[in-house]
Amino acid sequence: MTAEKITERLLADAVTAMETLSIALGVRLGLYQVLAGGAADARALAKATGVHPRYAREWLEQQGASGLLTVATDDEDPYARAFALPEDAAEALLDGDSPFFIGTLPGFVASVAEVLPQVAEAFGSGGGVPYAAYGEGARHGIGGLNRPAFRTGVADWIAAMPDIAARLNGGPARVLDLGCGSGWSSIALAEAFPAVSVHGIDLDEPSIAEASGHAAEQGLDERVTFALGDAAKLGVGGGYDLVCVFEALHDMADPVAVLRSARELLAPGGAVLIGDEKVAEHFTAPGDLLERMNYAFSVLHCLPATRAEGTAVEAGTVLRPGIVRAYADEAGYTGCTELSIDHDLWRFYRLDLA
Ligand SMILES: C[S@@+](CC[C@H](N)C(=O)[O-])C[C@H]1O[C@@H](n2cnc3c(N)ncnc32)[C@H](O)[C@@H]1O
Repeated sequence: MTAEKITERLLADAVTAMETLSIALGVRLGLYQVLAGGAADARALAKATGVHPRYAREWLEQQGASGLLTVATDDEDPYARAFALPEDAAEALLDGDSPFFIGTLPGFVASVAEVLPQVAEAFGSGGGVPYAAYGEGARHGIGGLNRPAFRTGVADWIAAMPDIAARLNGGPARVLDLGCGSGWSSIALAEAFPAVSVHGIDLDEPSIAEASGHAAEQGLDERVTFALGDAAKLGVGGGYDLVCVFEALHDMADPVAVLRSARELLAPGGAVLIGDEKVAEHFTAPGDLLERMNYAFSVLHCLPATRAEGTAVEAGTVLRPGIVRAYADEAGYTGCTELSIDHDLWRFYRLDLA
């Protein structure tokens, strides 16, 4: 690439990055929520949200210029120019159940920006930045993005393992959800399989508190329980029909110990289901958008968060299929099969004991 092309690309990237942060502001301050109720000018938006009218005006104009908002009523007076949030943008930004929901991702980006000094320090020391340090933005970013995927997809993912699907449909059956985060995978499993009880484990206290709240809100707290814990140190004898690890194996400091621990907890004939990033088999440069996305997450979030937990394994977000197979082998599984499940972002692996 020529210097001119690189400059053009980085300029466009910088604009996109700043626009992403301005979207995070709009979400955080409830600005889109007001616009979802109808077009508003700067004065009306300021009144409804408590932001200063001058900021409301600038944000509205910036959002209009970026193409996310449209001008509903033009006016000579910039404070009286009304902007609207188109229906599709409202769905993508505000409807947490939509398969196109992305409204928590800008907040994730903002959370990374907020801890950048700590990440820089970790680059020097080789240490990490605790998962919790990224705060609500990261937690909700991940949980909110994955929630619709779990709720619309989990039954199909399980159906790709007919023997396990039969156990969960036949019930009563038990599922363990390791690295459950905000709990939406555990909840989705319980929703899809009414005779199943699900237990979620996570190392992050705020995630477990939120997960328990979500289960209660959904009226599922009798069948869906959560506990704080290290998935690598769970003991033996759980008798679980299925152990799931969704988008979390690459975040665990000792993934082999986690898989060993899961092995000890399986009921005879049970299986482990891993959903993790859909990265290429081998490193290539330049990579496609998925590789670029996963490396960006890795550099700024997953690797520092994992290294805060421990530095033995150093996985990072880019968990290649060969690495998953090697982990499964080292943890004593006799089978590691990639399941034929169509998903834009993840690959799915089934681990079995003979
Ligand atoms: C990217 S988040 C995914 C959360 C959830 N599975 C989802 O898909 O929304 C990874 C989760 O793994 C958890 N985690 C990392 N190491 C862990 C460990 N050793 N034991 C349990 N949970 C762990 C983190 O706290 C975090 O909630």
